[in-house]
Amino acid sequence: MVKVIAFHSYKGGTGKTTLAVNLSAHLASRGYNILLIDMDVYAPSLYVYFNIQPKKWINDYLNDKITFSDSIYDFTHVLKEYKLGDKAKNPYGSLHAIFSNPSKQEITDLDSAVRKESSKSQSLKKMLFIKETRNTETDYDFIILDTSPGIRYWSINSLAISDEIVLSLKMDNIDIEGTKHMAMDVYGAFTSYGSKSYLLLNRIAGYCEPPSSSSSAGSSYEMNSPFNLILKEQTEAIKNLERLLKMDVIATLPCYCDIQFEKQEYLTVLNSPNHPFTQKINELSKKIE
Ligand SMILES: Nc1ncnc2c1ncn2[C@@H]1O[C@H](COP(=O)(O)OP(=O)(O)O)[C@@H](O)[C@H]1O
Ligand SMILES: [Mg+2]
Repeated sequence: MVKVIAFHSYKGGTGKTTLAVNLSAHLASRGYNILLIDMDVYAPSLYVYFNIQPKKWINDYLNDKITFSDSIYDFTHVLKEYKLGDKAKNPYGSLHAIFSNPSKQEITDLDSAVRKESSKSQSLKKMLFIKETRNTETDYDFIILDTSPGIRYWSINSLAISDEIVLSLKMDNIDIEGTKHMAMDVYGAFTSYGSKSYLLLNRIAGYCEPPSSSSSAGSSYEMNSPFNLILKEQTEAIKNLERLLKMDVIATLPCYCDIQFEKQEYLTVLNSPNHPFTQKINELSKKIE
């Protein structure tokens, strides 16, 4: 049965898109059939990562202009350009994606369409239909949703169809009150119906050592070096977050200063198979499987 995973956050810039695309490419390279959907309909960006100018969008499906399967693009050929392991033992899965239209008019249209009560139930039906994989050629193992931050109409609809919600937080910029409110009120409602939610702490300290800490206090291996004090404080902060938000941490990712998350960002896991970032995505994928 298909499992739907949503990447969500209270604030923007917490790594939702980076994680959603790389997890998708990673799972597909391990043999799973993946459908990745840009549900960040208020600020679409996924098409940029895939370096294409789509002609069909999730907007067209939600506005009843095309069928769901007509909105899907196939990127399995990109995976096949990477020679990963023994293909006979570990056959490639497939990677499909649906994009969201960045034009201002399309964003407004999608938003104004749902103001009417009748359209609201219609759009929820359309969202639920996404899980009906019988309606597509591929039998998907995972549908991964990249959502808009905060409590917004299309984010809530995305969370409503998700089996697992991953709430990402950027460690240096957390709005505790807002996040707590969202986790309790919104996630609480969905988890009481059986979905699971987890915290993902992104851009934590510990990978790239700040230059000042090593130069002023010698080696970072010294127990009380400024760098180690930051790490200690951070460990405490993570424990407090878990307690406060009543959610388990599914992954902690350092801020990586040495990899370029540029164009075609979703290929980082394939371009850098031995990088610690890829190991983290691998650990995350095992927990999600
Ligand atoms: N662990 C990380 N280390 C370094 N840079 C990161 C990390 N996670 C995300 N980024 C960068 O942070 C920025 C915001 O990430 P993005 O995935 O676009 O966030 P969101 O989708 O939540 O708005 C991007 O430039 C991305 O490359
Ligand atoms: Mg994003």
